[in-house]
Amino acid sequence: MALKNIRLEVMQTVEKKIDSYIDQYLIPVEEIWQPTDLLPDFQKENYMDEVIQLREEAKELGYDFWIVLVGDMVTEEALPTYESWLMDMEGVDQHGRNGWSKWIRHWTGEENRHGDTLNKYLYLSGRVNMREVEITTQHLINDGFEVGTGRDPYRNFIYTSFQELATNVSHNRVGKIAKKKGNKMLAKMCNIIAGDEMRHHLAYREFVKTIFEYDASEMMLAFQDMMQKKIIMPAQNLRQSGGKMASAFDDFSNAAQRLGVYTTFDYIDILEKLNAHWEISKISGLTDEAEKARDYLLKLPSRMMRIAERIKIPEDANRFKWVEPNGVV
Ligand SMILES: [Fe+2]
Ligand SMILES: [Fe+2]
Repeated sequence: MALKNIRLEVMQTVEKKIDSYIDQYLIPVEEIWQPTDLLPDFQKENYMDEVIQLREEAKELGYDFWIVLVGDMVTEEALPTYESWLMDMEGVDQHGRNGWSKWIRHWTGEENRHGDTLNKYLYLSGRVNMREVEITTQHLINDGFEVGTGRDPYRNFIYTSFQELATNVSHNRVGKIAKKKGNKMLAKMCNIIAGDEMRHHLAYREFVKTIFEYDASEMMLAFQDMMQKKIIMPAQNLRQSGGKMASAFDDFSNAAQRLGVYTTFDYIDILEKLNAHWEISKISGLTDEAEKARDYLLKLPSRMMRIAERIKIPEDANRFKWVEPNGVV
């Protein structure tokens, strides 16, 4: 029990700085972009010109691209899962409206715009079977996720530090492909969303850095534990209509690897960046167990690299109901 109390004390200490974190890493509602800033304006006389342009540009994008964009959008649309999971963390009091619950609400408010933007884009593009996509979203929210953090804030902040950077990388890459194929509107959407993800990453990374100052050994053990479990993607349970839970995830992930949108090498790169930023190699005064955890974390990138080089990604795209005109594969 003593350990839990220390975690709560640390959470309460860090919480005192929440307002400054919100100022530093989030953007006030009245100033931040909204989805419609990036989409055709339907109140304009010539709204149809923009829609036609969007649809014309979308014709150049390939099968894997749509799988990845749908998967990314659905991942963003499952936001209710992530908010309810974070609200349940130790140290968060949503009824007492403490600082941590405020952070989560404000973070959710920003995140909510991502799925909204991509959903509208996909709908207007005319390239995907929207009903099939919507079924997937509803399934994913129903299926929820289990990422191995429990209610522990230390493990949760490792997860979010990692995951926000992973989404930054993938949205950025999708944007680059879109730009290369002449999709200006989509490229801009992806870049701007990626920018939000980066700010969120910097915030969660800072929370962990601060916790390292107060409770280094426990933070180190939490980091090791999450990396041993592997950082599971939030869309791990992805499925299509009629499919079993999680049955679509591997095909989605393979499409992302083939396109180079998010690969095992990115995973390793993120781990190296976190090790470097938290100065894992320099943290001292650890317990014996945490010392071992630190050695594990420092060696992990090169160990993973040897494995990653041997992994073969299937060359052919699996058919997806999302992308087929009648939703039939
Ligand atoms: Fe997001
Ligand atoms: Fe995010």
